[in-house]
Amino acid sequence: MVLEVVASKVDREQLRDQIEAKYCDVAKKPEQGFHFHTGRPLAAMLEYPEADVNALPESTIESFAGTGNPFLLGKLHEGEAVLDIGCGAGFDTLQAAKQVGPTGHVIALDMTEAMLEKTRLGAETLGLTNIDAKLGYAEELPADDGSIDVVISNGVINLTPDKMTVMQEVYRIIKPGGRFQIADIVVQKPVDQDAKDDIDLWSG
Ligand SMILES: C[S@@+](CC[C@H](N)C(=O)[O-])C[C@H]1O[C@@H](n2cnc3c(N)ncnc32)[C@H](O)[C@@H]1O
Repeated sequence: MVLEVVASKVDREQLRDQIEAKYCDVAKKPEQGFHFHTGRPLAAMLEYPEADVNALPESTIESFAGTGNPFLLGKLHEGEAVLDIGCGAGFDTLQAAKQVGPTGHVIALDMTEAMLEKTRLGAETLGLTNIDAKLGYAEELPADDGSIDVVISNGVINLTPDKMTVMQEVYRIIKPGGRFQIADIVVQKPVDQDAKDDIDLWSG
């Protein structure tokens, strides 16, 4: 059987603008409430240990907006090189940076500057110097070929219309034998083309 996947017709730049506006609010006005869960209640729902959450700055926790817990697939090892695609306010980035320790490092990538500012602030608050927060897109990962031990991501790839390019980028940067630990949204049946082409259904 040949399965034909028809790409979405949404305008990528328009979608990026909408996503950025939405996640700028998650960074700057987390108390306003969204159509998805956020913050400390979400972290509890997704089985992050309370002690790990309490060790993070409150401004990081309040803007957490993931869809799962990449560390349920395994903790990261000391000295590893990590890239967090769509790091948001740094909830997973900061935990990853602690897990890999000073001999490891984490590249934290996001397209929303307000989120990256929170990641940088969180790293500074915790005295973590092994995080490099970079503005950019999941479709062009800022790492050399075969340079990363673990790619993590939480709730981001569902927001990218060109998932094949994102996967090719992950494959390009990951070391042989490296790991891809992501949490994201999975649908069990094909999404109607009309829904795929409706930009409002992408960012809510
Ligand atoms: C649902 S939030 C998740 C944030 C973070 N991973 C967490 O768990 O809190 C999605 C994040 O991905 C970022 N994002 C969405 N599409 C992106 C893309 N194509 N490239 C880079 N970042 C993207 C948004 O700016 C936002 O910060």
